[in-house]
Amino acid sequence: MAIRCPEGCRDLLPDEAAYWERFASIARDVFSKYEYVSIYTPMIEQTELFVRGIGEATDVVSKEMFAAISGKNMEKLLEGEKIRSKSRLSLRPEGTAGVVRAIVQHDLVPDGAPPVKLMYAGPMFRAERPQHGRQRQFNQIGVECLGSADPTVDAEAIIMLMAFYERIGIESSMMRLLINSMGCGKCRPAYRELVHDYLSQNVDSLCDACKVRMEANPLRAFDCKEDGCKQVMSDAPKITDHLCEECSQHYAKVKGLLSSQGIEFVEDPALVRGLDYYTRTVFEVQATQGIGAQDAIGGGGRYDDLSKEIGGRSMPGFGFALGYDRCMLYLREKGMEFEPAKRCDVFVASVNDEVRDSAFELVQMCRYSDLRAEMDHQSRSLKSQFKLADKLDARVVVILGPDELARGEVKVRDMESHEESLVDKNEAVAAILDVLR
Ligand code: HAM
Repeated sequence: MAIRCPEGCRDLLPDEAAYWERFASIARDVFSKYEYVSIYTPMIEQTELFVRGIGEATDVVSKEMFAAISGKNMEKLLEGEKIRSKSRLSLRPEGTAGVVRAIVQHDLVPDGAPPVKLMYAGPMFRAERPQHGRQRQFNQIGVECLGSADPTVDAEAIIMLMAFYERIGIESSMMRLLINSMGCGKCRPAYRELVHDYLSQNVDSLCDACKVRMEANPLRAFDCKEDGCKQVMSDAPKITDHLCEECSQHYAKVKGLLSSQGIEFVEDPALVRGLDYYTRTVFEVQATQGIGAQDAIGGGGRYDDLSKEIGGRSMPGFGFALGYDRCMLYLREKGMEFEPAKRCDVFVASVNDEVRDSAFELVQMCRYSDLRAEMDHQSRSLKSQFKLADKLDARVVVILGPDELARGEVKVRDMESHEESLVDKNEAVAAILDVLR
């Protein structure tokens, strides 16, 4: 049986690959107005980074990580030997931990420096149960701003993300922006205790996973999809009633800045997000139609303790990631078609095999002159070469025949006007450029 793509992964075929590149380039364009610049970090990192950064009690780390084990280490593991913690690697389930690791490693925000603003685009890996809108390899575009705790950073990033969605064709009326504050190291421990006590009083109504979560990280119970737990959590104490003065002010300022720019949002005190690094602002954007249960098309928040958690010095941060594949599901549902990936400028056709070397020479000359050029690579008949030129949407076809070539000439046909002219073969590229102009 032919080997197929792994479960939960998908191929981006050429038309979609071209669309993904355009999608990422629109993001770069929008985000660069806010001074975000690109960074590329590895797709594998030490597992320890995710355990410490994202949190051991999260589903992402405890259940969904793909280990990346080299052949040698796999042998060692199979033989019951230990491998060094440095050699324990995982495919990145998200981009934030790796970007913050790189910032710390390369000291990109020295003391007193302005904040660094970075963006990334690429695949992430989570061993989730695949379903519509949920994959094991999916593409994210994300940004991270490190070095400022100011609410203006939170607000401008959210505004920028909403502007991006509009640019790609998701209207604001089709999205819901949920926001919350998760508090900080000062106010959250007492709130956690409160939720823990509340869960203990309702333990009989909780699912088995939430009974474990109750001890490891009680706030995770807000994320549970079980009906019984949802019911319990709907009456749980709300974080926003227990924020310290600084967190309260920070949250109020973020909301004020969003409103001042006409950004509508819904406050959701149960929004805790699936990653443990968040402090203060968290937010999620949901598509209100068209993509079913997996409706979160993006989300993020502030993570002022993450840098310290992974061994760096204290450095406040804020960021978000948006899911390409879910945005694309929404746009396809709305009727968007991918444009064909390729429009060839010129196709060089050979009347017979004798002239193929000359065709090869001419097609290369076209490419050296920056044209998208193609020739036949299968000794097809002239008729089927024309069909191929049509398929490639070639604007010009150059026909090489033995008699014309003997006279030092080639035929140039404009495929739109169907006009043909015989030109000196040394003038062929100039004649093609004339038609394209
Ligand atoms: P996240 O909410 O886990 O956040 O993922 C962001 C987006 O990635 C989601 O809203 C969703 O659109 C997409 N996504 C996540 N999992 C899948 C999946 N299995 N299949 C398809 N799409 C998926 C983060 O990853 C954080 N790193 C965001 C962040 C950046 N927070 C601060 N900075």
